[in-house]
Amino acid sequence: MAAEPPLLRLDGIGKRFPGVVALAEVSLDVRAGEVLGLLGENGAGKSTLLKIVSGAERPDTGTIEWQGETVTLATPHRAQQRGIVTIHQEFTLVPDLSIAENVFIGREPLRRGRLIDWRRLAREARAVTGRIGLDLDPMTSVRTLSVAEQQMVEIARALSMQSRLIIMDEPTSALSDAEVTRLLGIMDGLRRDGLAVVFVTHRLTEATATCDRVAVLRDGRLVGTRAVAGLGMDTLIRMMVGRSAEQLYRRPATRHAPGKVRLSVRSLATGGTAARGTVLHGIDLDVRQGEILGIAGLVGAGRTEFARAVFGADGRSAGSITLDGTRLDPRSPRDAIRAGIGLVPEDRKLQALFLALAVRHNFSIAALAQFLRFGLFVREHDEAAALERYRRTLKIRMSSSEQAVVNLSGGNQQKVVLARWLALKPKVLIVDEPTRGVDIAAKAEVHELLDELAGSGIAVVAISSELPEVLAISDRIITMREGRVTGELPAADATQERLMALMTLAPAGA
Ligand SMILES: Nc1ncnc2c1ncn2[C@@H]1O[C@H](COP(=O)(O)OP(=O)(O)OP(=O)(O)O)[C@@H](O)[C@H]1O
Ligand SMILES: [Mg+2]
Repeated sequence: MAAEPPLLRLDGIGKRFPGVVALAEVSLDVRAGEVLGLLGENGAGKSTLLKIVSGAERPDTGTIEWQGETVTLATPHRAQQRGIVTIHQEFTLVPDLSIAENVFIGREPLRRGRLIDWRRLAREARAVTGRIGLDLDPMTSVRTLSVAEQQMVEIARALSMQSRLIIMDEPTSALSDAEVTRLLGIMDGLRRDGLAVVFVTHRLTEATATCDRVAVLRDGRLVGTRAVAGLGMDTLIRMMVGRSAEQLYRRPATRHAPGKVRLSVRSLATGGTAARGTVLHGIDLDVRQGEILGIAGLVGAGRTEFARAVFGADGRSAGSITLDGTRLDPRSPRDAIRAGIGLVPEDRKLQALFLALAVRHNFSIAALAQFLRFGLFVREHDEAAALERYRRTLKIRMSSSEQAVVNLSGGNQQKVVLARWLALKPKVLIVDEPTRGVDIAAKAEVHELLDELAGSGIAVVAISSELPEVLAISDRIITMREGRVTGELPAADATQERLMALMTLAPAGA
């Protein structure tokens, strides 16, 4: 008997965009019953490949075989009909409908051919959501669900459509650790049920913990596919970045001594009616010239809320902010920027980038003042030179500075946001999850850059959910929980365990 064909076979897939070869000659099999990790640096072509498989983009060259038959996947709907489903992180569910309606949207069980059979709808929804451990009332409105729960609803929908291949592009990047564990567990269950899962991640430990095989792309080409069993981390990194982990940035052991206090926050509180998210209570902290202060905490600790309050994006109900000894009352981000406070926000899409505009405009929006002469004309030449400098140091992959940001890969969008703030040379720079979606090599570059910034006298506040990152970049670390500071450690004394203990400590006065 002939061996069964792979579920999906890609052969010689190529895709160009104006000025870029996104994919060249990529050949890859996906088998039923496996989880395949797709890895590679920012701009390597991962999302493009997934879009081709999910019917959202057409390849320029190559063939796609599905269960042994050559197919064209003209639209996402066609791909879905064949059993290939993409789980998006957001925007595809209808927020005002229930879980059950979203799972069966367009395919609701009907009574007498016309009316929705609500009881059956709920029962059938419960059956699929139960399969992946989503134990919520199927009539719950999707609007009230967390990102992780919405993802699960999408997976339930895929299961209800008898999908065979589930595709996820960086599904874990916006999840908490506990949610990541749950999602990886679900992937494991799907594999045991004979489905195939292909997912992209920049966290290599996730890939090695969950995948059967990994495929590595570099510059649009397939470097190789490897079984995860017995695959060393160093081999994997070498495949991804073309050099070994040792050559990635390591922070110097001896550090410059921090100078005088730049940012001083006393008794900062938020609250009242307008407050969204976690309410802050009595936050006190100082950040010195040349210092990187790390803030660690679990989801809901109030780290982002703290950043937004100092940046003037959200109101304060009490407390004071002092910058270089001068009291500051930022009522808007504009006030904060004028005074010299920068914020690289957590969600670059919603808060930081004008996606339809060129990289050049996105780069200069906040930094504009620097490039203005007599307050009238943009000095295009200086702007171009500055952008070129950051493009080189941050290795931003773009075809030209006129390219629309929406067409950059996710990690490269993040680098544009960073470059913009770096160019502004603020007194205080707050970075909220600065390397989310950024590949490991670029991550090392971002860390090095933050270090250089601190070295030039900027006070840096770094918020990160990845403890190894907090440990790697900070001089001093504070922990938060439920809107309060629960602890403080010099980086030299900090370990993941000690930070975890402080992050979960019930705050005094709560
Ligand atoms: N619609 C488009 N128009 C022009 N260029 C594009 C378009 N989509 C992708 N590209 C380019 O193709 C290349 C591959 O991008 P892709 O999004 O596939 O990378 P990626 O591996 O997913 O990266 P990341 O890890 O940053 O998400 C990049 O250089 C990107 O700028
Ligand atoms: Mg991508």
